[in-house]
Amino acid sequence: MMHRREFIRSTAAAAVASRLSWIRTTEATLKSKASAKGILYGSAASVRMLQDQAYQQIFAEQCAILTPEAELKWNAVHQRPDSYNFGPADSLLSWCQSHGLKMRGHTLAFWQSIPSWVPQMANASNAKDILTQHIQNVVGHYAGKLQSWDVVNEAIAPDDHNPQNIRNSIWQQTIGPDYIPLAFNVAHEADPSAMLVYNDFGVEYDFPGTDVRRNAMLDLLHKLKSQNVPIHAFGLQAHLYGNAVQRMNTGALTSFLKSVSDMGLKILVTELDVQDKGLPPDPNARDEALAQSYGMFLNAVLRNPNVIVVETWGLSDKYTWLRQHAPRNDGNDVRTLPFDANMQSKSAVVQAIEQAFDAAPPRTV
Ligand code: XIL
Repeated sequence: MMHRREFIRSTAAAAVASRLSWIRTTEATLKSKASAKGILYGSAASVRMLQDQAYQQIFAEQCAILTPEAELKWNAVHQRPDSYNFGPADSLLSWCQSHGLKMRGHTLAFWQSIPSWVPQMANASNAKDILTQHIQNVVGHYAGKLQSWDVVNEAIAPDDHNPQNIRNSIWQQTIGPDYIPLAFNVAHEADPSAMLVYNDFGVEYDFPGTDVRRNAMLDLLHKLKSQNVPIHAFGLQAHLYGNAVQRMNTGALTSFLKSVSDMGLKILVTELDVQDKGLPPDPNARDEALAQSYGMFLNAVLRNPNVIVVETWGLSDKYTWLRQHAPRNDGNDVRTLPFDANMQSKSAVVQAIEQAFDAAPPRTV
């Protein structure tokens, strides 16, 4: 029999332990702050990153949704004309399922990340079949399992000087602008339950040409809606520039998003990050500047109740595409995401994001 003093000691210890675990589990996370308003917070990730235990742990703690950064792109799943490799994306999906996260699909008709056989083989007479078959197989493989699909990615490029400002991708060259409705129709047939997204970047600032981009995207979305194409959401990539915060045009962004939501489309922030190029070297000063961009952007965007997902393009500075894509001129490691390269939360950035979630009106699902 347990001695009374021992029992008291052990129950006291159990009470302390349970209190600690209560504190741990009720500590605010990005996903808990977002979900209090009916918003899913998450991030892009790849198989390689999740092999890092520390990363995997913060990812599961902070995120309610994951986008495969590479594993569902054409050059990952469909490297050769007659074979598909779903292994890496399947393993991400099963990790998500066992940790209670949703997963998004990224991406089907894109100008980039295409294996060389596609442009070598595609021509005006077979390109529709090539694109159709790819979408049928990839969307079909995941039917009913993904939260949404980025069906068409980055189709607007006014500098390419095509009619309707459509980017000069292999799909535009071989099929023309009809590749866009085609991609949505085939995806819808392959997974009638999936939320289908048009995803693009470059709508947040008053840079020269940004107005043209915003208008071209609205024209495209209007056209698709008026043709009853099964499109359900707009994906706002939101790759921001920390040194251009004064040029962020929240007014234009807000009215752009209002036009999008007035069409009955949901809005997903799909790839949010803030470049630190041109910001001072001091890490604290940089984080403060990043926080300003995150806060200004999210406070503007989250006022629109159709915004239901916020994903950053990575969670820790250890794994950000900006290391390669936009390294700093002074050689310092980039700082961009909510967690630093040692998996420590960067309080200025995290607070800015959490405050924006706190200030957001609740979404009704
Ligand atoms: C990027 C990845 O993050 C990089 O690792 C890769 O080398 C190139 O693609 N917009 C998109 C994403 O839609 O697919 C891109 O991802 C970033 C810009």
